[in-house]
Amino acid sequence: MAIDASIRDPGTAPAGGRASAGGTAADPAAAVGHREAVGAGGLQPVTGPTPGRFALRGDLLDFVADPAWGDVGSDAVRFRPDHWLLIEGGRIAGVQADEPDAGWTRDDQQGRLILPGFIDTHVHSPQLDVIASYGTELLDWLDQHTFPAELRYADAAHAESGASLFLDALIAHGTTAAVVFPTVHPVSADALFAAGQARGMRLIAGKVLMDRHAPDGLRDASVEQAERECRELIARWHGTDRLSYAVTVRFAPTSSPAQLAMAGRLCADDPSLYMQTHLAENRAEVKWVHELFPEARSYLDVYARAGLLHAKSVFAHGIWLDDADRAALHAAGAQIAHSPSSNLFLGSGLFDWRAAEAAGINVSIASDVGGGTSLSMLRNCAYAYKVQAMAGQRLTAWKALHAATRGAARALGLEREIGSFEVGCAADVCVWDWAVGAVAQRRAERARDLHERTFAFMLLADERNLVNALVNGVSRYERGAP
Ligand code: GUN
Ligand code: ZN
Repeated sequence: MAIDASIRDPGTAPAGGRASAGGTAADPAAAVGHREAVGAGGLQPVTGPTPGRFALRGDLLDFVADPAWGDVGSDAVRFRPDHWLLIEGGRIAGVQADEPDAGWTRDDQQGRLILPGFIDTHVHSPQLDVIASYGTELLDWLDQHTFPAELRYADAAHAESGASLFLDALIAHGTTAAVVFPTVHPVSADALFAAGQARGMRLIAGKVLMDRHAPDGLRDASVEQAERECRELIARWHGTDRLSYAVTVRFAPTSSPAQLAMAGRLCADDPSLYMQTHLAENRAEVKWVHELFPEARSYLDVYARAGLLHAKSVFAHGIWLDDADRAALHAAGAQIAHSPSSNLFLGSGLFDWRAAEAAGINVSIASDVGGGTSLSMLRNCAYAYKVQAMAGQRLTAWKALHAATRGAARALGLEREIGSFEVGCAADVCVWDWAVGAVAQRRAERARDLHERTFAFMLLADERNLVNALVNGVSRYERGAP
């Protein structure tokens, strides 16, 4: 992508990425910014583009509201084909049909799809090491694959290299914001926040809380020490640049009642904190929670009693819920991070999105790597469609893509910052090829309307379709020449 060198971060441009061509073919000098030319009277300033001010041309697709279930002709969709997206100072400055004037560096991606960066509302940074591990359901998968990998994050150097690899991979899949679990080790949270800060990313994360039913080296030493570590991390990172802290309870079985109560106190002390955990993912897990917390009405009630059910709560999965749980989630304004590839891979179950929708719950889409098998939110949207199909339901491309962009932003209370092309939002923007390869291209040519074309994109595209990813107006990923 041809972006002014002044908006590229030279320190983190990926090796092998396509070098900036500077400006467009029509205006090859545009990228040099302010220029000077030799005229009759000597050196004279020539009007040129302002650094940090550039315009992207392509098919702009975002949402202005939540599309209704099953509505392929939804008014919530805002499609502006062959428009220019104006970006200034790292923010969306406007959208227009006409080519912008010479004050803008122009980057012509005509014929390509431009979407807001995806928001992955539930993913584990240390679990790239165990993605696609054979043969287990959740509880054995944790014991055999995941906990051993997470143990290695006690080491600062391992945590730092892992965090960088993870965030670069997220961006290379078109995900520019995420809600992330590192490990129980504070150093893993520090490494993740620092790597997010270096990339200008919107990240929500927190050190994992777990003080029982986990191996040595993965348990908090005491409730008091875990609380101290959380408070230090909150002081260091919460509200720093684009970072927020989430009180991060792994799941009910790995926290003592005293630790859950402490987590609830953290949330009560500062309502701007997020809370993330797992909820009702797997039947054996649900049974275990009932045994561990006989006083609770349900799995969700364990969290509710501890003060962990509120508007900033992100609950991964939520498969095995009843109507009372759904009503409580709705009343709290909490969200479910639906993780379809994980649910299929670990054989956890089929999320009832329709029931969640009927109850008025915010539903976002998440990769849950390494339980999930791909960081690609497009693949996860495609899996989400298939999960609904198993229940005889139809998930439109609009509903899925909204849940992965503006819907997630709204559920996180970040609608004014991410998830759309509204003026003033951060320029977290991705450029995609509508179709890569003969099969997808053939299908795209045959599409009869916009939903059909976008649905085929959602089902057939993956990270290989990604041309360029901007984070906060800075190009952080560029696809190499084929
Ligand atoms: N439940 C508790 N920990 C985890 C985890 O790491 N992944 C998933 N999918 N479920 C969990
Ligand atoms: Zn998870």
